[in-house]
Amino acid sequence: MTDAPRCSLRAIHPGDIRALAAAEVACFDDAWPESYVASELFAPARFHRVLVDPGGRLAAYLFAAWQYLDLHILKVATLPPFRRFGLGTELMLAAEEHAREMAGETLTLEVRVTNIAAIGLYESLGYEHVGVRPGYYADESDALIMTKRVGET
Ligand SMILES: CC(C)(COP(=O)(O)OP(=O)(O)OC[C@H]1O[C@@H](n2cnc3c(N)ncnc32)[C@H](O)[C@@H]1OP(=O)(O)O)[C@@H](O)C(=O)NCCC(=O)NCCS
Repeated sequence: MTDAPRCSLRAIHPGDIRALAAAEVACFDDAWPESYVASELFAPARFHRVLVDPGGRLAAYLFAAWQYLDLHILKVATLPPFRRFGLGTELMLAAEEHAREMAGETLTLEVRVTNIAAIGLYESLGYEHVGVRPGYYADESDALIMTKRVGET
């Protein structure tokens, strides 16, 4: 694919669960199983979006959870053929807009210290490094904590 795909943004539907579980395997070593994708979809205080191409194919997705006034980004991923076209940025900006609309104060996330692509995405959006969680992941690698303030204070 050479041209930027014209994808549309929408909420996640139950009919997306199978495609999301397959996308997890394509995007992560520690993929969420289908049952976990479903439980996140139906959990309270969540924000989740997909980007789909004109053929209805899943291109990218984001899951986030409210923790008081912080919208915690649980996961953002773009399927390999759709990367570097701005889709991750579009999803992160949708989460940011949602946080502002809901009078949230911050968006926060953890990212594996070796995940150069994701750290680059978050830094490009103005997220700041605010700490490290040693041994955060199942393989005991460390996570960076990154935050972006969107509220007034
Ligand atoms: C991280 C990820 C979501 C980025 O998605 P994307 O749709 O390709 O991101 P964008 O096209 O919006 O990229 C925006 C910026 O992020 C940075 N970036 C993205 N991929 C990068 C890479 N491989 N290396 C360095 N910087 C990168 C760049 O600054 C980029 O801007 P540019 O293309 O103008 O240089 C995607 O690589 C991915 O799904 N990775 C696997 C899953 C994952 O690790 N998710 C994050 C943890 S939950």
